[in-house]
Amino acid sequence: VILPAVRASCVMSEGTRQEVPMVDVQIDGDWHSFPQGTRMIEALRAVGKMPPHYCYHPKLSSPGNCRMCLVEMGMPARPVPGREAPVPDADGRLPIGWMPRPVISCANTVAHNMGIRTESALVEECRHGVMEFLLINHPLDCPICDQAGECQLQEFSVGFGRGESRFREQKVKKPKNVDIGPRIRLDDERCVMCSRCVRFCEEIDDDPVLGFTDRGSHTVLAVHPGERLDSNYSLNTADICPVGALTSNDFRFQMRVWFLKETESLCVQCGRGCNTLIGSREDTIYRQTPRENNAVNSAWMCDQGRLDFAFVNSDLRLTAPILGERAGVQGDCDGLPATRHAASSWPAAIEAAARGLEGVGAGGLAIIGSARMTNEELWLLRRVARGLGARLIDVVPRTGGGDDMLRSDDRNPNSLGAKEILGIEPGEKLASIRERVRSGEIRALLVWQEDLFEEAGFVAEDLRGLDHLVVCQQLANATAEAAHVVLPGASYAEKRGSMINVTGRIQRLQVAVASPGEARDDWEILRDLASEIDGVSGPFLLEEVWKEMSEEVGCLEGLSFGSIGRLGVSVLETGAVVPLLEKERARRASGVIPEVLDPGVGRAV
Ligand code: SF4
Ligand code: SF4
Ligand code: FES
Repeated sequence: VILPAVRASCVMSEGTRQEVPMVDVQIDGDWHSFPQGTRMIEALRAVGKMPPHYCYHPKLSSPGNCRMCLVEMGMPARPVPGREAPVPDADGRLPIGWMPRPVISCANTVAHNMGIRTESALVEECRHGVMEFLLINHPLDCPICDQAGECQLQEFSVGFGRGESRFREQKVKKPKNVDIGPRIRLDDERCVMCSRCVRFCEEIDDDPVLGFTDRGSHTVLAVHPGERLDSNYSLNTADICPVGALTSNDFRFQMRVWFLKETESLCVQCGRGCNTLIGSREDTIYRQTPRENNAVNSAWMCDQGRLDFAFVNSDLRLTAPILGERAGVQGDCDGLPATRHAASSWPAAIEAAARGLEGVGAGGLAIIGSARMTNEELWLLRRVARGLGARLIDVVPRTGGGDDMLRSDDRNPNSLGAKEILGIEPGEKLASIRERVRSGEIRALLVWQEDLFEEAGFVAEDLRGLDHLVVCQQLANATAEAAHVVLPGASYAEKRGSMINVTGRIQRLQVAVASPGEARDDWEILRDLASEIDGVSGPFLLEEVWKEMSEEVGCLEGLSFGSIGRLGVSVLETGAVVPLLEKERARRASGVIPEVLDPGVGRAV
């Protein structure tokens, strides 16, 4: 009567495919098929019946301490001596003998012919009870809590609570607004003791600074004496805290989460390209949070990258094209004559840029691009260089600061794109360009999104002999101050485009906010500059840029912008590994964390 236990199938996370036996499981009366060893909670998620849960997180171990994910479980009834044998139904399945008590679904696995009930009277009663205990000492300060709107205590009490409190006694008072780290605040009264933050620090961050002290309803979360929650990954604890106990100093009290628009994008602070959600309202960015991508950043990101968006909203943003004229007197930029600047129209600025660059001839020209530019922008920069006949072209390398988690030692987000598209080794020609500018051999310089002084090692004296300096910048800086033509470009959050990360994965940026004033998307500026130089109009859509680029850049052959998708596509084999993902793989292989099912697994049988 037992169904065949082994059916050939393949289900594995992260693209590793491997044959595993499948088992049939009855969930709320319907039969489904899952790989043997699947956690019950993941099986329930796969069929759209994810139970409420606090302590469970698929990237952490499962202590089973919150008891919120209780379900009813049963196995095929067995013959009992002296009683009638169980009778199989028309499909040959034996009736299920239900256990008289509930089980937690987060720490148990499915078995062949198992039954699970998620909606029975017993399950409902259990959820009411757990919610009631959790809310007894909760301060109910939702109106002033930053988590309101994305709080699982709110959501589960509405969905699974009793709807009223029977508690008439005095609530236990606990520490509030506790400074436990430079970027995190703790409110102990809101903590539901799920221990997700404690386990994140121990298991992912390898920095076990959090723990519980005291007992019973007086238990509090605390940092160990003499320690601080100050690792570069500390803000991930605020992301996974299911309630408002841990909040980000940067985001708290800034904006109600239900007003935020969320845009899928990337962090561009290093070559990892962590996937993000940009939270914005009315063209102002309020926060960035990690977006799960198991081939790039798992579910995490570093604090440094997460918080590096203030410049997008900065008053220093350039908002109009500017034309400058050297005034012949000493200026602010040390060692250089002052440049009188005046706002210009885009056509006049593009024309001035093109004529000035053309005017010195190919031998007197160099281009400094950026490995922070998108592939599409680099492609159009290449067209500008070809139109001008420029042979000296480079980007500014940035290195250092890598760690054994996510941060890459390459602090540029698109070094591989620059190599593939421009055919250069980043930084190889920079010293030579600087020397030739200084000697007067180079008389016109085009600089795209790089600060010559801060990043490229130039000093003001180097630029004395330049006849023409054209720059595209986002912020007013010394390079813009010294330029003859300033083109205001877009930040990473204001543009569409693609970048190739250090492991060779191409991923997409999306527009989260509008550029300030008349600043424009860089690919459009480059297209106009290229057209002014070579007389060829277009392309007019980013997709057209892609078509041209993918026909000539080998690693992009056959790809379209759309086919990159939400999670990117691997286009180059670099041999680079992500230390955090390697550790995660090992923890999954040892069974500490569960396999996450591929979409489509758990289909009805
Ligand atoms: S602070 Fe948040 S994540 Fe940490 S134990 Fe409390 S509820 Fe859980
Ligand atoms: S690891 Fe790199 S890409 Fe990821 S969040 Fe940090 S700086 Fe950004
Ligand atoms: S989710 Fe907490 S016990 Fe299962």
